[in-house]
Amino acid sequence: MGLFIKEYPVRVAIACWPWGPYLGEDGVSNGIRAKVSSYTRHHANVMMTKAKICGNYVNSIFAKKEAIAAGYDEAILLDAEGYVAEASGENLFMVKNGVLKTVPPNSILKGITRDAIITIARDRGIPVLEERLSRDELYIADEVFLSGTAAEITPIREVDDRTVGKGKPGPICKAIQSTFYSTVQGREEKYKHWLAYV
Ligand SMILES: Cc1ncc(COP(=O)(O)O)c(C=O)c1O
Repeated sequence: MGLFIKEYPVRVAIACWPWGPYLGEDGVSNGIRAKVSSYTRHHANVMMTKAKICGNYVNSIFAKKEAIAAGYDEAILLDAEGYVAEASGENLFMVKNGVLKTVPPNSILKGITRDAIITIARDRGIPVLEERLSRDELYIADEVFLSGTAAEITPIREVDDRTVGKGKPGPICKAIQSTFYSTVQGREEKYKHWLAYV
């Protein structure tokens, strides 16, 4: 027993089971309520945030439990400097004046869904910026949404009890959702090379 792991051969187990969208079908269609967490996201010098390491998720579990106990659906974690990082298991996007913004990959898991969304948006002519976001920018955003393999693309309709935009999924989120779903269902010729058939 110990914490000095001299050799660690990679061991992978893949569990498969039917699973709907992680934050619910209703969340995908109508949006969820999120809370800025009192837990801070890992700093890049604390954990290797770009890796999907089980230990990283203890931080997510605390944040998620706190958010659910307070009556919200999901937690948004700020980084060690107080800027928006990501949700407990998703990356975060916001829209302001037609520009899609997301957090640079410093203290976040750089998700594949995040990459797909950036590509889809740019291909649709939507300007995309990777820049630091403050929590108050979320409060006055036109749209906020989360992305992840599990959560797919889930809009946020409220952050800290403040209504985001019109309180329902906005046009840019809906447009990207539509391309995303037709892509993962194999109906989008342009992105067919992203798919691995099993
Ligand atoms: C902390 C965290 N951020 C972001 C993501 C999104 O990553 P991906 O789009 O690769 O699923 C996940 C997915 O599990 C995650 O756990």
